Amino acid sequence: MNILSPSILAADFKHLGEQIQTVDQAGAQYIHIDVMDGMFVPSISFGMPVISSVRSVTQKVFDVHLMIQNPERYIEEFAKCGADLITVHAEACQHLDRVIQQIHDLGRKAGVALNPATPLNVLEYVLDKVDMVLLMTVNPGFGGQKYLDSCTRKITQLRSWLDEMGYDTDIEVDGGINKETIHTVLKAGANVIVAGSSVFGGEAGKNTEELLKIMKRSEERRV
Ligand code: DX5
Ligand code: ZN
Repeated sequence: MNILSPSILAADFKHLGEQIQTVDQAGAQYIHIDVMDGMFVPSISFGMPVISSVRSVTQKVFDVHLMIQNPERYIEEFAKCGADLITVHAEACQHLDRVIQQIHDLGRKAGVALNPATPLNVLEYVLDKVDMVLLMTVNPGFGGQKYLDSCTRKITQLRSWLDEMGYDTDIEVDGGINKETIHTVLKAGANVIVAGSSVFGGEAGKNTEELLKIMKRSEERRV
């Protein structure tokens, strides 16, 4: 199933609750929440208090993307403050398998993210354990960057690998997705679409509806 996950990194934080409600009402299924620690990525965004305070404004899935070095230190706290799906970077974990287990033990879904330059083969021995793979389609750290074309082949390769194994694991793509690039990533096999500036950069409700329409059309073509 195709899922839209608007990234609140591009939202107006003065009105964060309302902005989340706008994309919720427009039909977005997930809310993408980017946590940055200033170590794994150059920038710092926000953490648990912000997530806890907006938890009550929506029932939608909180899709928490941890751009944090050694995320095992904080998994429990993110689960407590309302994360439903917790994604960690393979590059940031010393013991990736253990972190995935930790997320599952807390009753949450587990995702593994890869930077654009990280090869797919790091997933080989965890692929059967993850609920979602997040392929970064920009270098993580900032919103508003340009989609990296080299990532299209990676999405295609991952989808065919998953098909071969008989897994229907979600592939999330994150970075530079807009009304143009979304066609490319859907065609390549991504089904969870993160969109920050292309949603919150203008009228969030209208942008959400337009992206969802494109996603629905592509799903119908596949059936
Ligand atoms: C980047 C973040 C993204 C970001 C995407 O490091 O992981 O989720 O918000 O922003 P856009 O859609 O503007 O590229
Ligand atoms: Zn993200």
